[in-house]
Amino acid sequence: MDDRPGASLAALTPMNPAYQHDPHAVLRPLRDACPVARDAQAGTFVVTGYAEAHRVLANRRTWRDGARAEEAALLVRRQAAQLPPGVPRTEAVSILTLDDPDHARIRRPLQRAFYARVKTCRARVEQVIDAALDAIDPTQPFDLMAAFCVPVPVDAIASILGVDNDRLTDFRDWSEGVILGLNPFRSAEQTATLERCRAALHDYFHDQIARRRAAPQDDLISDMVALQAEGAAINDAELAINLIALLVGGNLTTTDLIGNGARLLMLNPGERDKLLADPGLAPALVEEVLRYEGPVDITQRIMAEDAQVGGCPVRATQAVTAILRAANRDPAVYTDAEAFVIDAKRAPHLSFGGGSHICIGAPLARLEGQVALLKLFQRFPALRIVAPDAEPKWRTLPFFRGLEELVVQA
Ligand code: HEM
Repeated sequence: MDDRPGASLAALTPMNPAYQHDPHAVLRPLRDACPVARDAQAGTFVVTGYAEAHRVLANRRTWRDGARAEEAALLVRRQAAQLPPGVPRTEAVSILTLDDPDHARIRRPLQRAFYARVKTCRARVEQVIDAALDAIDPTQPFDLMAAFCVPVPVDAIASILGVDNDRLTDFRDWSEGVILGLNPFRSAEQTATLERCRAALHDYFHDQIARRRAAPQDDLISDMVALQAEGAAINDAELAINLIALLVGGNLTTTDLIGNGARLLMLNPGERDKLLADPGLAPALVEEVLRYEGPVDITQRIMAEDAQVGGCPVRATQAVTAILRAANRDPAVYTDAEAFVIDAKRAPHLSFGGGSHICIGAPLARLEGQVALLKLFQRFPALRIVAPDAEPKWRTLPFFRGLEELVVQA
């Protein structure tokens, strides 16, 4: 119903300095007052309770294509892709905003090949992380984001995709450029950079797909070409747009997982010591970082049929926004929800979303987070923030939480 108590999604962005400083000071009263509220301006229900968010995400009778939403659902409609004329939708947008049957048709082979790669890529990821650590000069203070958290995910995915060493610099630049697509407030100049990098990646992947078809290698693109040859119903243009999605979806988020995790361990030396005493805690550490300070704030669904969300009637075509960050600290589910405890037994967090759209990159993000945080603190056990009392330099990208810069001393 549209007369639910109000909530403003705009207030849940860095445009609100209080949210930027401490999102939970804003989310807590909202969740306590009403786990399902309505933002009439953005045209969406705003779900802050864990149980309610979990149910919405698991509901398969929902859509992701913003064009299917009611007119009032401004936010999801605005996010619906401006399709270039004459290009089929499946070749213009990734699985992120596709619905079945196309979503399942494309995600199935991609997931099969990607998960198999992640299972065998630990040694490559370790090499990438060791190389980033070796390049750090520990005698001087350094920016951990620029030196470590930014390069690790892009180099890891480049290695999985099979990017040649001589194209790595270009690949890093393009990857940086396409991330601008996540920023709705980008300048005209940034939009031009975004377009240039997207086109370059598009051409690069098309070229690589053709080359792998002629001469397969040990990489994900070759795996996908092999699946196509076995009959997987995904064409080259669909493959290329989804390879770009792996970059866009994976780089910034994993950078923030590593950055937020490193900061939390430096602020909580007792937790860092637990990790160093028992490296087997690395997987639990990463889950707690994702719960406590996850990189992504929200995900959205459009109801495909009338339903109840937390006892609140929601009509078909209405949009629902799950506030993952709020759900992850719901005291109804988590004892001591506001404490960062790496060996606590906790319910699974919602930071990767859920249901059929659950983050396809989660196994890679987890692997990178575990290896990166463990190796970082094994190499520099006394790593500390140079100005721990200063306000952290959070990025200002709406719906993502990560650091612009984190100056540390080994
Ligand atoms: C800590 C790191 C990451 C976080 C927090 C994260 C978070 C998310 C979230 C919340 C969604 C939406 C899920 C939903 O609506 O239910 C998503 C989807 C997605 N993510 Fe991630 N992600 C991360 C890493 C990655 C990586 C490493 C990749 C690729 C290598 C990736 C690629 C994608 C793609 C392609 C989708 C769309 C999946 C679909 O709609 O079927 N993500 N991610």
